[in-house]
Amino acid sequence: MNSFRLNNARVEIWRDAPELAERAAELLIGISREAVKANGVFTLALSGGSTPKALYDLLAEDTYSPRIWWEQTQVYWSDERCVPSDHPDSNFRMAHEALLSRVPIPDASVHRMRGEDKPEAAAAAYSAELVRQFGSEDTKFSLLLLGMGDDGHTASLFPGSPALKDDSHLVVAPFVKKLSAHRLTLTLRALNAAAQVIFLAAGESKAATLKLVLEDDSVASAALPAKLVQPVKGELIWLVDEGAAKDLTH
Ligand code: 6PG
Repeated sequence: MNSFRLNNARVEIWRDAPELAERAAELLIGISREAVKANGVFTLALSGGSTPKALYDLLAEDTYSPRIWWEQTQVYWSDERCVPSDHPDSNFRMAHEALLSRVPIPDASVHRMRGEDKPEAAAAAYSAELVRQFGSEDTKFSLLLLGMGDDGHTASLFPGSPALKDDSHLVVAPFVKKLSAHRLTLTLRALNAAAQVIFLAAGESKAATLKLVLEDDSVASAALPAKLVQPVKGELIWLVDEGAAKDLTH
């Protein structure tokens, strides 16, 4: 493993996606226990995508699950597709099947975005739920897990989206042209309030974009939403595999 600091981030390069998932699981467990000791609760925001699925599968296993204090854990999402919760594209469904249905977390501690509702209404309802749960608009997640698309999107904040400039909402429902669909997503304001952010990126298809995000400041940041995730008071960690890291100069 190779690790270095870059601007505000710690970057760790692991061999492959399974190693990445193991490292993420160990980090998550450490962060969860610290959060419960300090605040009595571990607030975890999940993302969709294929890379975190390996992590969710691992966390449900006997080597990991008993080390997480599920009774003290509250689960949220950073984004959701506008589909019913049992749809193959649903981020909730993926996390539910891979992890949440396999561990002793109370149903009331799982706060999903309602992809089946009208997008604007679902975004407003999720925002209200966050304020209710956090007691204010300060969404200081103990841990926010994010992925990065090959185009530099993160959560459902896509390059050039007007949602990137929205600093008055916590959750929005942008129409994503390239997908011809609405998505539900936390805004940068909500993402950047997290105490810890871990990005997971695996595979050579991410290499060129990862280099731009981490090492190249010549590209307008609105073209690379992942670059705009800079927790205001929190810590930022990039866990990447050798494929995704292959163009980095470090
Ligand atoms: C989603 C996401 C999205 C994802 C990236 C990376 O719902 O699709 O939350 O931002 O994290 O597209 O996805 P992969 O891990 O599958 O490459």
